[in-house]
Amino acid sequence: MTRDARARGFAVPAVNILDDLSLRAVIAAAVRARSPLIVQVSVKTVRSVGTDLMTTTFQSAAERADVPVALHLDHCPDRAVISDVVRAGWSSVLFDASDRSLDDAERETAEVVAEAHARGVDVESEIENIVGVEDGVGSDVALHSYDVATLAAVAERTGVDLLAPQLGTAHGEYKARPVLRPDRVRELAALSDRPIVLHGGTGLSREDFRSFIEAGVAKINISTAVKVAYMRSAETHLAGARARDKWDPPSMFRDISDAVTSAIAECIDEFGSAGRA
Ligand code: 13P
Repeated sequence: MTRDARARGFAVPAVNILDDLSLRAVIAAAVRARSPLIVQVSVKTVRSVGTDLMTTTFQSAAERADVPVALHLDHCPDRAVISDVVRAGWSSVLFDASDRSLDDAERETAEVVAEAHARGVDVESEIENIVGVEDGVGSDVALHSYDVATLAAVAERTGVDLLAPQLGTAHGEYKARPVLRPDRVRELAALSDRPIVLHGGTGLSREDFRSFIEAGVAKINISTAVKVAYMRSAETHLAGARARDKWDPPSMFRDISDAVTSAIAECIDEFGSAGRA
């Protein structure tokens, strides 16, 4: 999916979901726009829902979609969780080795690639940390940064499929305008033909996305926008329910679902992935 996106000059939306409601809402956005989609799950969500329930819920929602939908494990430093979802047949995993030294990160990434590829599962690699704590994983400061030649060489030696470098973005809401690094994407893309992933998509503009995609980004991660759409629509619904003294959960689920679907429809439009499925 992402190799095709890189060749055709767009990015696949990679959207973090929290439950079956948000899962079906993001798939609905992809189906309506005829966009390929990567559904992402954080380690925290996998642990709370359970791998089996998450896998079967995804399969049942995705098999009804007539666009390609992949299931990806987001930032995971924990090898046991990686092994678990690889055995369960997920499409891909992000092995987050950014808390390790460069030597350990390379050695362990190569081990994860061997394990995942043996089961046909792709591996996204992060050895520099993307700033910001998301669902309990990560750090608010840059712990490890390398030059792009090192990133490309490690990718070549470990055989990973996708690269997640530091690009000036951060997880969560931006408190100040970030210094974005599409130039780094361009330099890395000149050294490696592996699709490059942009993390921290929430809060960037259409022009920001365009410059990253033109430089070679082929997967853009969105999480906070889903959480905000989900919680704000629930908040609005609950205020109305309180005013009317009418308490009907299914109508709140509908409002949440509509809000999440429209947030992702906007991303699909910005990433140029509509009509590409
Ligand atoms: P945001 O929460 O900033 O959208 O970032 C999402 C992300 O990069 C998930 O890995």
